[in-house]
Amino acid sequence: MRVFIVGATGVIARNLIPMLLARGDRVTALVRSPDRARSILGPHVDLIEGDLLTIDDEQLLGAMNGCDAVVHLATALGSGLSSEALDATAALRIAGTTKLLRAAAQGSVRRYVQQSIAFAYIDRGEDWIEEDTPIDTEGRIGPVIAEMESLVEESPLEWFILRGGVFVGPDTFQDTTVTRLRGGEERVPGSGEQWTSFIHVADYADAVAAALQSSASRAVLNVTAEPIRYRDYLACLAESLEVAPPLPEPGAPTPRSYRCSNAAASALLGWTPSRPIWPVA
Ligand SMILES: NC(=O)c1ccc[n+]([C@@H]2O[C@H](COP(=O)([O-])OP(=O)(O)OC[C@H]3O[C@@H](n4cnc5c(N)ncnc54)[C@H](OP(=O)(O)O)[C@@H]3O)[C@@H](O)[C@H]2O)c1
Repeated sequence: MRVFIVGATGVIARNLIPMLLARGDRVTALVRSPDRARSILGPHVDLIEGDLLTIDDEQLLGAMNGCDAVVHLATALGSGLSSEALDATAALRIAGTTKLLRAAAQGSVRRYVQQSIAFAYIDRGEDWIEEDTPIDTEGRIGPVIAEMESLVEESPLEWFILRGGVFVGPDTFQDTTVTRLRGGEERVPGSGEQWTSFIHVADYADAVAAALQSSASRAVLNVTAEPIRYRDYLACLAESLEVAPPLPEPGAPTPRSYRCSNAAASALLGWTPSRPIWPVA
């Protein structure tokens, strides 16, 4: 299979691409800086220079020529959750997805995998969240996720939408949490009782690799590990680092609870998370 990837230098694709190459797939990547991409990805990925937001339709179609599948992993969240990063990510999720789906439907591509998130659901407290739980359409992220997913669902391609939990593992936000715990700066917001669904980024990459090969398609799936209460996550993380547990943050609101079930992904993809959500020494 030849796979066209956007977001090839990001944290997910750096785990995914070696898996695809190891099983004999070929990878073509749309990258903004070929020199930087070559140094990150090595010699075995075909690079096409281009920006998803400015490349024209004909160029994009040409870039995908001969590819069987498209994977959209591009975000602009590397610099955090600033207003600019959210706007740029919204553009990648709406305009970028529209462009990719349009080009993919015209050429050799049959399959399309879209990265999405499992923390845009409405707050369900103690209840388990399956994929038919509504997206919270308040705020800045939920409406973009809902629109992006609708675009994919309307496509005639064989699609998967993979709603990832909060990423942990090397080069994710967990690094910041570790630094803050070591520095004694981390606090437990609100009661800490809320459920959080994490996923190791390499397990997420496994799910993308499985979705590319699956005999099924046209499914929205939670790609999440066993949920954990946030205060327990921070306490266990502190223990694994042999540092003091974080103190509460008095008066802070309790963040949204999302206790996501990965049963559908398990059943459809034969996928289960296999890495611990704790940093490995
Ligand atoms: N589920 C989650 O928790 C979740 C989801 C996404 C991200 N994150 C977090 O966000 C942080 C960064 O993640 P990341 O490494 O995936 O994000 P990133 O560093 O922003 O990388 C995203 C990828 O998108 C590409 N890209 C961005 N804008 C583009 C454009 N206009 N055209 C083409 N490609 C474009 C980047 O390419 P360039 O090389 O050209 O920059 C890069 O390959 C991590 O801490 C991660 O954990 C978390």
